[in-house]
Amino acid sequence: MRILFVASEGLPFSKTGGLADVVEALPKALVQLGHEVAVVLPRYRGTKASTIVLPSLTISLGGKLRFPAIADGTEIAGVRYFFVEDPAYFDRPQLYGEGGRDYPDNPERFSELSRAAIEVAKHVWPADLIHCHDWQAALVPVLLRTQYAEDPVVGNLPAVLTIHNMGYHGLFASEVLARAGIPAEIFHPAGIEFFGKVNFLKGGLVYSDYLTTVSRKYAQEIQTAEYGHGLDGLVRSRADRLVGILNGVDYSAWSPENDAFIAAKYSAENMAGKQVCKLDLLQEFGLPPENRKRPLVGIVSRFADQKGFDLIAEKANEIMKEDVALVALGTGEPRYEELFRKLAVRFPERVAVRIAYDNAVAHKIEAGADMFLMPSRYEPSGLNQMYSLRYGTVPIVRATGGLDDTIEPFDLQHGAGTGFKFTAYSGEAMLQSIREALHHFAHERVWRRIQLNGMAKDFSWQASAAEYGKLYEAARALRGSGQAGRNQISVATSN
Ligand code: ADP
Ligand code: GLC
Repeated sequence: MRILFVASEGLPFSKTGGLADVVEALPKALVQLGHEVAVVLPRYRGTKASTIVLPSLTISLGGKLRFPAIADGTEIAGVRYFFVEDPAYFDRPQLYGEGGRDYPDNPERFSELSRAAIEVAKHVWPADLIHCHDWQAALVPVLLRTQYAEDPVVGNLPAVLTIHNMGYHGLFASEVLARAGIPAEIFHPAGIEFFGKVNFLKGGLVYSDYLTTVSRKYAQEIQTAEYGHGLDGLVRSRADRLVGILNGVDYSAWSPENDAFIAAKYSAENMAGKQVCKLDLLQEFGLPPENRKRPLVGIVSRFADQKGFDLIAEKANEIMKEDVALVALGTGEPRYEELFRKLAVRFPERVAVRIAYDNAVAHKIEAGADMFLMPSRYEPSGLNQMYSLRYGTVPIVRATGGLDDTIEPFDLQHGAGTGFKFTAYSGEAMLQSIREALHHFAHERVWRRIQLNGMAKDFSWQASAAEYGKLYEAARALRGSGQAGRNQISVATSN
């Protein structure tokens, strides 16, 4: 099958979070299953392309016309890349905004991405199905089922939308309708309107053939008021077309056996290198080597409310009363940057923070820390906890979304389990899990058991990619295309 991915970020070209990891790894895994995959991304600053395949597309955004080019970004691991090239929109210092503020023309920028992707399917790379990701690509199904509905080439193209994060809607004032070239006739509550505003994600939820999200647990959670961000009713109404498929890990990039960024390689058979990585990490963060015996907690994250940093802020004093050291890497909300900066000033011997986006340091933390803290308020899938497992870095997580699906609480009696997990969203519950982890850390053999349990887990993409393959077939069957007829394909939906 020929599958066209559309997303606003993807490695090795652009990344702000886990979406980029998925947009790199899932196409590779699908190619290994025998599919053909191409990916459409914006050509951001620094993205290299080889040739121009379409010098000028005419894209109508409301009253104005734009003429982006489509550039060929070559083939990597069997995956074709195409870039939407429009320097005024995409050649900027950041992907989505600067100084904590979104670019005001984001609706036009990502409307153009969606329209250009449809044109790629029409003129450059004929596809059997379009798989789009998050609100930035959610206009693809909207446009396919409206403006392009009568198009002989793409009018019946099946569309699947993956929700990586229900917290980001792409919500804009109604005047954006005209600015982004969205058909006015779908501006009503059963279409793209959300309480008087334009909601890109909602449009995608309404018009896609199938919806997926990135863990089973999150597929259930987004049907509740607590996690639905106001769209839970709509998601419930589409539950028979919603599937939760857990993200995988690209172990060629995230394994202590072959990680080029870490000070010493190691494996479950020989863990000696992990201590070398810990010392290297302490040095990287300017913390004294005396911390080597102390449990070292690592954090790598976008500093966003989603990630549970208010719990850490609430219990920072109590955490630091324990015999523990902490390193944090991230950028985002100024108040959380401030939280870690202040902690580092108060506890210069035991706490250090790097306010940056730095992939090499992220790898060093996965390898060098003893524990990885992820107390998320919500977490659609989460990748870092799965990376941590492979590095023998024991996750401490809140039982939500993918964190709940991937981490099993340690059970001393049976020697089973891979981490520490709390349920209530409270500082107290988090603190208790941290204390439990610290208690077990003191017993070397017990700790080694937990590490090895985690290192033995396999979250590779293969199984998840096969589930996507099945889902694509079901989406094609719905539109009367593909090998399988209607009703012959069954996928386990969350209904
Ligand atoms: P989310 O997508 O919500 O940010 P995930 O756990 O799915 O969370 O993925 C986060 C990805 O981004 C991981 O690959 C992680 O290593 C990376 N990452 C996050 N913040 C940073 C940072 N400051 N520097 C380097 N990598 C980061
Ligand atoms: C989102 C989610 C994260 C998920 C990632 C990739 O950013 O916050 O949980 O792992 O997308 O699907």
